[in-house]
Amino acid sequence: MLPGSVQRATLFDASTRIRTAQHIKPSIRAINLHHFFGTGELRKQVLFDNNLTVFPGEIIIMTGPSGSGKTTLLTLIGALRGVQDGKLSVLGQDLHGANRSQLVHFRRQVGFIFQAHNLFDSLTATQNVRMSLELTRPGNSIRENTKAAKEMLEKVGLSNRTGHKPRQLSGGQKQRVAIARGLVHCPKLVLADEPTAALDEQSGRTVVELLQRMATENQSTILIVTHDNRILDVADRIITLVDGQIRSDALVKEAGIITQMLAKCSVFERVTPRTLTRIADEMTVESLPPGTQIIRQNDPGDRFFLIREGTVVVKRGSPEVEVVTLHSGDFFGETALLTGQPRNASVYTIEETLLCSLSKASFQSAMAESASLETEIREAYFERK
Ligand SMILES: Nc1ncnc2c1ncn2[C@@H]1O[C@H](COP(=O)(O)OP(=O)(O)OP(=O)(O)O)[C@@H](O)[C@H]1O
Ligand SMILES: [Mg+2]
Repeated sequence: MLPGSVQRATLFDASTRIRTAQHIKPSIRAINLHHFFGTGELRKQVLFDNNLTVFPGEIIIMTGPSGSGKTTLLTLIGALRGVQDGKLSVLGQDLHGANRSQLVHFRRQVGFIFQAHNLFDSLTATQNVRMSLELTRPGNSIRENTKAAKEMLEKVGLSNRTGHKPRQLSGGQKQRVAIARGLVHCPKLVLADEPTAALDEQSGRTVVELLQRMATENQSTILIVTHDNRILDVADRIITLVDGQIRSDALVKEAGIITQMLAKCSVFERVTPRTLTRIADEMTVESLPPGTQIIRQNDPGDRFFLIREGTVVVKRGSPEVEVVTLHSGDFFGETALLTGQPRNASVYTIEETLLCSLSKASFQSAMAESASLETEIREAYFERK
């Protein structure tokens, strides 16, 4: 048994790491949030007991089937709908029980990018974007706001459309005006419902990079509802809503990093990307202090190890002699699992180390899969000829 406590859940929760590192307050906190539409016999529950904690600077992507409640949840978080049941605090404001003027003030701190663009037909692109600033920066001069609006339109690739009215713009261009309007006042929270749906790959990327910059430079929280899997890579977390309930809240980036590390391990070179993702998911993660013994020479092998962060030293013999030092991305412990022999060395941490490990059974099933893949390929290419 390994020393230290298994901390998979906490490592895979970016929020927890940010919180413990910096004691930052959440920007969104939903507790036991329910929501209903209709009254009497037509009353229908669409959100069921949702709990969610999001921190400043996090980019959250929300996916889920049509009708699962994504837009409803987004509009509750943006105070476009009243909280009926449960608690919801956003940007330090309790939305449950808030009065009208508190809600108006709250909404001005939010950047909304919604499916229906809601642009004013009689206003030009610049004027539409400038409206956001007129509401949120009443002290600014028109000249200042116009300049900022034009700069924002330039950032979304519309510098040559600033004087156009919505009806003179394509769907994707209107979408980008709406995005510029949602971001121009540097909101601390951006709520975006399918922001890239009408955009080609290049424009979608530009928008996503803008959102990323807002998250890092302005510590804005970005919540994006999307089915666009071209942009999933920007997410710190992906939340899936199914039948009105948050089903998974996995830290994709962390899982992605581990998958990439696994892909570089020679021992997994024949394993398919899909299996690597599964292995990453099956790994447990521990944080071990310096001087912890991970493996003891001559013990039977029971796990495979990958260093997520930190350094370990491998020692062999009696008295022990240092053989090699291993760092982030290196792996060890596979030999005993492959050969069935006892451990041929001891391994110790020499600094605080985040260690991913995989059970013998999972390791062997991945190996068996790669072996069968190899057989399949051989059959396909050679033996059937
Ligand atoms: N104003 C409303 N009155 C009554 N029912 C509504 C209302 N708005 C949404 N609903 C219902 O609530 C459920 C959730 O709708 P919501 O718009 O939140 O889904 P969604 O996940 O955003 O779907 P999509 O991916 O299609 O946009 C659906 O069953 C929908 O029919
Ligand atoms: Mg929707």
